[in-house]
Amino acid sequence: MHKLLERQVKRYLGESAKLPPELAAFIAAVDDAYKGADADRLLIERSLDLMSKELTEANAGLRKELLERKHSDLALQEEKVEQRALIRKLEDVHSQLLQSEKMASIGQLAAGVAHEINNPIGFVYSNLGTLEKYVQDAFRLIDLYERAEKAIADPEVLNQLQAAKKKMDLAYLKTDLRALMDESKDGITRVKMIVQNLKDFSHADATDEWVTSDLHSGLDSTLSIVNNEIKYKANVVKGYGAIPAIECLPSQLNQVFMNLLVNAAHAIDERGTITIRTGCKGEEVWVDISDTGHGIPAENLQKIFDPFFTTKPIGKGTGLGLSLAYGIVQKHHGRLEVKSEVGKGSTFRLWLPVKQPTQ
Ligand SMILES: Nc1ncnc2c1ncn2[C@@H]1O[C@H](COP(=O)(O)OP(=O)(O)OP(=O)(O)O)[C@@H](O)[C@H]1O
Ligand SMILES: [Mg+2]
Repeated sequence: MHKLLERQVKRYLGESAKLPPELAAFIAAVDDAYKGADADRLLIERSLDLMSKELTEANAGLRKELLERKHSDLALQEEKVEQRALIRKLEDVHSQLLQSEKMASIGQLAAGVAHEINNPIGFVYSNLGTLEKYVQDAFRLIDLYERAEKAIADPEVLNQLQAAKKKMDLAYLKTDLRALMDESKDGITRVKMIVQNLKDFSHADATDEWVTSDLHSGLDSTLSIVNNEIKYKANVVKGYGAIPAIECLPSQLNQVFMNLLVNAAHAIDERGTITIRTGCKGEEVWVDISDTGHGIPAENLQKIFDPFFTTKPIGKGTGLGLSLAYGIVQKHHGRLEVKSEVGKGSTFRLWLPVKQPTQ
């Protein structure tokens, strides 16, 4: 008999109650019902258990899927960032390639022009030197004639002479001729310098040898050369770090330093500071040349390395300084970077490898 029913029967009908057959049949029927209900409950419990197990499994599966999706989302995002960086790098390389191609073709052109101009400029320059000597001789002779004037007895000749002197304004002619000669010589010297710059820019007659050299001594010797251009404009502050000697063409690097230093001085309107810092990182050495000058507007930053780009008045700048520097730095497998803020100043950073790659 079912335990619960047994307890009820004992409670209401006594321990050893003799039951009338109808009641016994009824209790047996109730007992069956109890047992049936128990069996049903067990079945329900078991199926509930089964269902809950299935649900837990499904839940775990879902959680795993969610985690996986989160991971793949993260991976996708990382990939996107990498792609963006790659695109930027590609753009950089592309613009560098364009720049160097432009430099190469301008270089050829410059070499040709420089070569053509070099000879005529050479003889004009040397003729000017001779002409100056002749003019000096002629003036010396005129001086002697002037002194001999008093000895002229014929008043007509004397009058003629004095009239001609007055008409020509000999005194003015003497000073102006000298000024004209000086100006012409100055002009020719400038043209010669431009031609030399063009030649250097294209490395047409580079006979330099690669040597291992200390950049600090190059910087110092360049500073002493350009001191005249700088001293009225800026105080020079040096912050030299410990850098190794590097494999380079020292005289060409000095030209880079010179151009950067002169540009820095030109950028300063009143009085300012030019700071030179050096240091190294990995297998590269860097040189910073900063100024407290007027800075470079963003729209010009792309153009300053272009040959002939200048913001200086005619006769002051050829616009070749930075393109020349760019070419030299490229030859050294280095980089030239610029940071500038209008009104605050600019910093040009030169990166150079300690050892040149073997060709
Ligand atoms: N430190 C600087 N601060 C501000 N502007 C600069 C600086 N350096 C260069 N620039 C700008 O870049 C231009 C190009 O410079 P680059 O040295 O090539 O030619 P330049 O100085 O004008 O002439 P030059 O051939 O005599 O050097 C300059 O005219 C100037 O506008
Ligand atoms: Mg310059």
